[in-house]
Amino acid sequence: MATTENELTAEVIASFSNTPDPRLKTIMESLVKHLHMFAKDVRLTDEEWFAGIKFLTDSGDMCSDVRQEFILLSDTLGLSSLVDLMNHAKGNDLATEPTILGPFHVQGSPFMDNGASIVKRSLTDGEPAIVRGRVLDIEGNPVVGAVIDVWQTDANGKYDIQDSSDVAGNLRGRFKSDADGRYEFKTIRPVPYPIPADGPVGKMLRSVNRHEWRAAHIHAIVEAAGFTSVTTHIFDKDSDFLDSDTVFGVKGSLIKTFIKQNDGVLLLDHDFILVKAK
Ligand code: BEZ
Ligand code: FE
Repeated sequence: MATTENELTAEVIASFSNTPDPRLKTIMESLVKHLHMFAKDVRLTDEEWFAGIKFLTDSGDMCSDVRQEFILLSDTLGLSSLVDLMNHAKGNDLATEPTILGPFHVQGSPFMDNGASIVKRSLTDGEPAIVRGRVLDIEGNPVVGAVIDVWQTDANGKYDIQDSSDVAGNLRGRFKSDADGRYEFKTIRPVPYPIPADGPVGKMLRSVNRHEWRAAHIHAIVEAAGFTSVTTHIFDKDSDFLDSDTVFGVKGSLIKTFIKQNDGVLLLDHDFILVKAK
């Protein structure tokens, strides 16, 4: 029976000694070790412990089919980006850097012809833009038939699935790279937008004087047979919040410039560089 703080921690860690799955044993032991260290480090009070329990309870209550408050928590604490960094370190300096998936990806967006527009509602505001480039391997050879799955918010900063007045599938689409590895789609310039902040995570951000904004971006997942797929973003160089993206998703190599052409349409060139699968 433990009488000191350290003896208690050791006793709880020892309680996992019969865990049949060795990975689960490692995770549980380490979790308790760090959780206890955290409580001791800040000398957690009864009231603070209960406030934490209430925060987690409120977060659970906020979750639904279309809302995952715990993922938002993980995102805003940088855990999602840390897990992404640890598990998807780019295999090569030339390869496209990955970043977080986020909660607004929809499986099975329709395939569209290269050059088509992902803007599917007629009243869309926003600056018209073309995004194009190539899918290449790290030697610069075209990757033919790569699938580029893209999604972004409308000019109101909302994804179609967040906005019941929107057309399903607006600002989403899948494209296939052609014989030269090229892809191209029409869209609107992405805008910065706030992550859902009407729940406990928003309250947490406000209580620590942090904002809830993401820098303007287009999401992409690029997949091709024989290559490791990459989940990434393209960030707009002129966006606000590149230095303070609330989910820590910005990487320098993913920041690109929209250039205004003579017809007023913005053009952004972005190549995706894939690494061969091992
Ligand atoms: C997103 O980029 O779609 C996103 C990422 C993390 C939290 C909320 C939204
Ligand atoms: Fe996003």
